[in-house]
Amino acid sequence: EATVTELAKPKAPTLPDAQKITYVKHWTDRLFSFRVTRPASLRFRSGEFVMIGLMGDNGRPLLRAYSIASPSWDEELEFYSIKVQDGPLTSRLQHLEVGDELIIRPKPVGTLVHDALLPGKRIWFFATGTGFAPFASLLRDPQTYEDYDEVIITHTCREVGELTYGAELIDSIRKDEMLVELIGAENLAKLRYYPTTTREESPKMGRITDLMRSGEVFKDLGIDPINQDNDRAMVCGNLAFNLEIKEILEEFGLREGANSDPKEYVVEKAFVD
Ligand code: A2P
Repeated sequence: EATVTELAKPKAPTLPDAQKITYVKHWTDRLFSFRVTRPASLRFRSGEFVMIGLMGDNGRPLLRAYSIASPSWDEELEFYSIKVQDGPLTSRLQHLEVGDELIIRPKPVGTLVHDALLPGKRIWFFATGTGFAPFASLLRDPQTYEDYDEVIITHTCREVGELTYGAELIDSIRKDEMLVELIGAENLAKLRYYPTTTREESPKMGRITDLMRSGEVFKDLGIDPINQDNDRAMVCGNLAFNLEIKEILEEFGLREGANSDPKEYVVEKAFVD
């Protein structure tokens, strides 16, 4: 028979909303991605973010907003993160290993969703750095290709190595049999990838903002400049980039939309610890 003291013993501590890490990959000394089991209750729209984190030393969860990089149909969740050496969360997250626990609050939100845009012919995804994450989700969502005739993803990073996660993802979308079947080979032909670097030599150098202002990106892709009738855009990057590209999109006649008020473009800040 159990004694009273045994019955009163607390159970082994388990985190609230805990999930298990299933995969970790380090892309550069500053970037990594990981996959984690998906809470049964979590439904989200591709492009949204959730709060994730670890238990802090004070016994309270230390949480940050992270874009979900996996598509909404995926049975696991994927995240793409920077490593900040003195960042409160990423200094610890970067040491995660398969089997470790991660807190995920199953309340997705965000503006980088198809519902926040009016119908159009062409969708642009503009990313810098880890701002690629929400697009890693949207690019694997069949709806992206059903809604548009052309899908263009631009990714600007300082160095070539920072493009690898995105480049491999694009490659896998085009080659992975399951994804090709799910999205459709004819739909995947709509996908165009435009990577650029700013501080290391690569086939395309320069900030995407400068390449838009000069018209070079439209010339490279062989398309007309952005206009209000045809083009829709989602933007995710660092603060200065977001502000500058907003200005450019407004000059092209696009207006910022929201879930409750869909228009021609939407913006969200990429994660920083
Ligand atoms: P640059 O190297 O010229 O600063 P970060 O790693 O600092 O978040 O930057 C990611 C990428 O975003 C870099 O290639 C950087 O270019 C670029 N970037 C920074 N600010 C802007 C801006 N205002 N407009 C366009 N690109 C920017």
